[in-house]
Parts: sequence; C-alpha cells; structure tokens
Amino acid sequence: MSLRAIVRSLLLAPLAIALPVPGHNDEKPAAFFLAGDSTTAVQSTGGGGWGDGFLRTLKSPAFGVNKGHNGATTVSFVKGGDWAQVLNLVKNATDNYNVYVTIQFGHNDQKPANNVSIPQFKTNLASLASDVQSLGATPLLFTSLSRRNFNGNELIQDLGDVVNATREVAAASHIKLIDLNAASRKYVQAIGSADADKYNLVEGDRTHLNTHGSDVFGRIVADLLLGSDRSLGRWIGRNVTLSHLIAEGVYA
Ligand SMILES: *[C@@H]1O[C@H](CO)[C@@H](O)[C@H](O)[C@H]1NC(C)=O
Ligand SMILES: *[C@@H]1O[C@H](CO)[C@@H](O)[C@H](O)[C@H]1NC(C)=O
Ligand SMILES: *[C@@H]1O[C@H](CO)[C@@H](O)[C@H](O)[C@H]1NC(C)=O
Ligand SMILES: *[C@@H]1O[C@H](CO)[C@@H](O)[C@H](O)[C@H]1NC(C)=O
Repeated sequence: MSLRAIVRSLLLAPLAIALPVPGHNDEKPAAFFLAGDSTTAVQSTGGGGWGDGFLRTLKSPAFGVNKGHNGATTVSFVKGGDWAQVLNLVKNATDNYNVYVTIQFGHNDQKPANNVSIPQFKTNLASLASDVQSLGATPLLFTSLSRRNFNGNELIQDLGDVVNATREVAAASHIKLIDLNAASRKYVQAIGSADADKYNLVEGDRTHLNTHGSDVFGRIVADLLLGSDRSLGRWIGRNVTLSHLIAEGVYA
C-alpha cells in the first residue's frame, strides 16, 4: 500500500464507523430483536441459546425480544412467518428506539436435509440484513454459536462453512459482523470439554444451552456488542467479574 493510500484509509476509517443509521439518534434507548435458530432461542425442550441471557443484560428502558425459532433455517424463518413478525416489531419500535436486529443462522442451514446451499444461505443473509436497513434499523450478522464437541482436547470446528459464508456476506455488504463463533470457540476451547458440558441443556446436548449457559454466552454477546459500538454502553449492563473470567478463559 502506498503512503497516500494508508493516509487515505486512516482518514476514512472514522467516517465509516460514524456513518449515521437513518432511524437512530443519541436520545433513543436501544431495542434488540433477535432472529435465529435454537441456539438463540428461549430455553425449552430441544432448544435454548444465548438470546435470553443477553436480554437479561439490558438496562431499562432498553429492551429486546427473542424470536429464535428451534430448527429454523434462513429459508424456514421467512416462509414460516417469523421474519414478518420481526419486521413488525422493528416498524413499531423505530420511532422511539434505536433498533438492532441480530441475525444468526447456520446450524440448520448447513444440514443437507434442509436443502440450503451455501450460495443460497449467503443470498438469504444479505436479504435479511437489507430488509432491516430499509426500515432504518441496524442489522448485526452473527456467526454461529460454537457446538461443544471435542476430539481429545481439541474443540471440533463443524460450522466452518456457514461461519465463513456469514463473514463473507458481512464484508461484501458492509454489515456489522459479530463473530460469536470465534469468541465462543475461544472460551469453550479454553475451559475444556468437562466444564463446557456444564452448560448443556440436557446431558449430551452439546449444541443448546441451559439457563446458566445462556447467561454466560449472553455475556459474551453483550461484551462483543459493547466492544463494537460504544454508544451501547448506556443500554447494556456490565458484569466485570464474569467478563474477566471469560476473557481469562476460566470456567464461570
Ligand atoms: C408497539 O410500541 C409501543 C410503544 O413503544 C408498545 O407499547 C407496544 O407494546 C408495541 N407493540 C408491539 C406489538 O410490539
Ligand atoms: C429437501 O429436498 C428433498 C428432495 O427434493 C425433499 O424431499 C425434502 O422435503 C426437502 N426438505 C426441505 C426441508 O425442504
Ligand atoms: C473457512 O475459512 C478458513 C480461513 O480462510 C479456512 O482455513 C477454512 O478451511 C474455511 N472452512 C471451510 C469449511 O470452508
Ligand atoms: C456476575 O457474574 C458472576 C459470575 O458468573 C455471578 O456470580 C453474578 O451473579 C453476576 N452478577 C450479576 C449482577 O449478574
């Protein structure tokens, strides 16, 4: 890179970060609507993710709604009407809130039986994000929460295809990426298999989270968001003790 290009990229960098979102202003509290599969969803039989744990970190009047749907793909979430419900929540909230929509899929899209190819997955993610932007809200593309299966001491990466695809969409469409897969992998690898199993929804379910797991991985999400947007500090509560344990890779 030439000196001139470096100087130009430095000058442009703060501008890119400060780019205004049409529906946002400094006075409004944040609202978070969570779109995704069972690894976002409310704890229930056969499902349960980080969503409710994250929502518990919010400071009123900030609020959120967990619309995670067990078994959802980027196709079924739209076809089944969940996405329309998310968009209605967004439309109703943008006057009074800075609205964020988290978009996290992949666990089911990657299963061959669901017939979602990677190119289709990418097109779908871009389309969801664009719907959110067109309503004056901010889409946040999340890479998939890691599963907690180990091969010996090594955490297995079995989401690489959909994680890479999500990263590519975020980069190509200039959508904010929240790399939950990287952050959750780092923590799960650090604590190891036996401690990671304590977050299982039920014994042997290394995909879904129990309530405590939701609080811990919800904290990871909260910290990623706080790190990505300083204005969210007013609306997302902190837990320095828990954040510190996670950052140090110590089981919490
Ligand atoms: C719409 O927004 C109003 C005001 O923020 C709120 O009281 C109401 O519960 C919302 N309705 C729905 C369906 O989200
Ligand atoms: C995937 O395609 C097969 C073969 O066309 C079909 O039987 C199956 O129902 C499809 N599954 C979904 C989830 O659309
Ligand atoms: C994902 O991308 C990484 C880094 O570019 C690469 O090493 C890995 O093989 C990719 N994984 C898949 C499943 O495509
Ligand atoms: C903060 O995290 C610690 C460690 O997990 C937990 O014991 C405590 O209850 C949390 N505090 C709040 C206010 O959530």
